[in-house]
Amino acid sequence: MQADQLLLKDFRNIPELDLSFHPHVNILYGQNAQGKTNLLEAVYFCATGRSHRTSYDKECIRYQQPEAFIKLLYTRRKQDTIELHLRRNGRKGVAFNKAPVRKIEDLFGCLSVIMFSPEDLSLIKNGPMQRRKFMDLEICQTDPVYLHTLKEYHRILKQRGQVLKQLNGFSFSYEESLLPWDQQLAEKGVRLIQMRARFIEKLADRTAKIHEKISHGTEHLDLSYEKNMEADVDMFLEKLKNTVQRDIILGSTQTGPHRDDIAMMINGQDVRSYGSQGQQRTTALSMKLAEMELMEEEIGTPPILLLDDVMSELDQDRQTHMIQYIERCQTLITCTGVEDSIRRLPVGARYLVENGTVVVKS
Ligand SMILES: Nc1ncnc2c1ncn2[C@@H]1O[C@H](COP(=O)(O)OP(=O)(O)OP(=O)(O)O)[C@@H](O)[C@H]1O
Ligand SMILES: [Mg+2]
Repeated sequence: MQADQLLLKDFRNIPELDLSFHPHVNILYGQNAQGKTNLLEAVYFCATGRSHRTSYDKECIRYQQPEAFIKLLYTRRKQDTIELHLRRNGRKGVAFNKAPVRKIEDLFGCLSVIMFSPEDLSLIKNGPMQRRKFMDLEICQTDPVYLHTLKEYHRILKQRGQVLKQLNGFSFSYEESLLPWDQQLAEKGVRLIQMRARFIEKLADRTAKIHEKISHGTEHLDLSYEKNMEADVDMFLEKLKNTVQRDIILGSTQTGPHRDDIAMMINGQDVRSYGSQGQQRTTALSMKLAEMELMEEEIGTPPILLLDDVMSELDQDRQTHMIQYIERCQTLITCTGVEDSIRRLPVGARYLVENGTVVVKS
């Protein structure tokens, strides 16, 4: 999979852009706050229909402008085009090869990217929310049903939360006020749990192999899905019913996949609590590289790698592992200068990003 050409209009700090990419390594360098991440964000937008750093599309429209356009021409078997039109007052428009895409889910699977930024290296020390986000973003790209189920689950969860708050201090009939919500929640929840379990199972093997290599055979990493609830609708319903008083007092639902986590053990010890900083970073890197392998396997071709400022965060040894993956994919890399880690990369194209403009360097 290869991005050929990116066209932007009023996206973030970029008034206008027409940029052609190198088939392998593309280095986007420049000072801070010039627009490097914005360029990766635009490509990510085309793959997922959303930004990787905000859920408010409007933030991506250039200040004082009514709308923004993104157009990406890319090649998988043949050249395809994805276009996005973000409006300050209105819904966003998405098109694939000029035909409107009505549901964002329909865009998934067209273009596959992996975004890797320094926050991903903090995946282990950050809380379970970040780890759930990691699962969700990956599964969404390979399974269009997942996003739909996830959205539905969160919609029902929100509605249930409102009902719980209204019930506080009043007598009520569970069957009348909560059961209809709980049935839907348990049904969608179980679907999510099943899909997450499948994903972690596939990820765990690969992650363990990569981690073993990076740690030169000294560490065995064991990833497992720490689910809050079993994948069983009846059990889910029973737990919701039995804990309803606690949920009412707390004003929110305490049971379900919105409280899941991923457990990681190195040689039998929990990396989340006891891992050294180095072990935590190696674990995060192994998970991310495993995610790439998995996506490549699912879509039958390597995804486009978007590396946001990540090379300088890795030591030489870890960089070497990263480079092996870079060699397999088309990669867009941002950095503030062409430092040593960047010089180690295979030769490709370099672009200087300055105040929302891009100049092609040799
Ligand atoms: N909607 C917007 N309209 C105009 N400018 C914006 C908008 N959103 C963000 N910016 C500007 O974009 C710039 C940040 O761009 P970006 O995050 O791509 O920087 P960067 O080159 O990646 O920097 P760093 O090296 O610090 O990561 C900031 O100057 C910010 O003010
Ligand atoms: Mg940046």
